[in-house]
Amino acid sequence: MRKKIIAGNWKMNQTPQEAQALCALLKDRVDGAEADVVFCVPYVDLYPVLDALKDTQIAVGAENMHYEDSGAFTGEISANMLKEMGVTYVILGHSERRQYFNETDETVNRKVKKALDSGLIPILCCGETLEQREAGITVEWVRMQIKCGLLGVDAQQAKSVVIAYEPIWAIGTGKTATAQQAQEVCAAIRQVLAELYGQETADAIRIQYGGSVNGKNAPQLFAMADIDGGLVGGASLKEEFAEIVHYKKDMIE
Ligand code: 13P
Repeated sequence: MRKKIIAGNWKMNQTPQEAQALCALLKDRVDGAEADVVFCVPYVDLYPVLDALKDTQIAVGAENMHYEDSGAFTGEISANMLKEMGVTYVILGHSERRQYFNETDETVNRKVKKALDSGLIPILCCGETLEQREAGITVEWVRMQIKCGLLGVDAQQAKSVVIAYEPIWAIGTGKTATAQQAQEVCAAIRQVLAELYGQETADAIRIQYGGSVNGKNAPQLFAMADIDGGLVGGASLKEEFAEIVHYKKDMIE
């Protein structure tokens, strides 16, 4: 049985002071969650957030990193830097990074391998545009993103990877994929993982859904067979995140 994993992606929000205040608001409310809970935050918030959450069950993640260990890469952050700070997770290949910062399947793959070699858990993002969905190529597209993102990653390492399926048309739009739509793609992702690594490994890998997850829709989404939690943007900056984390309490039969 896979343990659910619910992560907040703060994106470019929260100054260090605001980050501390948000942690103070959420940490007791998140307490007792059955799922693994992660706050993925901007680099400058990592220290204050790690400090604010040190006696809690909440893990901390970064939103990106570089694939090289060190060197002349002005403005970049390495896996070792994150690891030494006490960061556990790192979001890689988010659609916003692919769209605005020229992230490609190749750079995402290099980052995934570096994160794993450094002992960080990558949250590898994939997802289609509305145009691709309407053209009927969602599954093909996502399968390719997964295959490219995991190129050269062996089965043992793959088990620790978290995949986040985030349809781009559902991000920040208030338009959530239906639980059935999300399940269909997450099942296809598990299928490609099984082709790559065998069923046992595929069954161990956690697949999140992301895209306008909120307190209301989380119970239906997280009840689906291949959806193992969520990657939450907007609602992770509010008290509502605690509702999402405790989604079982509102479970509709
Ligand atoms: P929203 O929850 O704001 O739609 O963002 C989803 C997302 O991009 C999480 O990574």
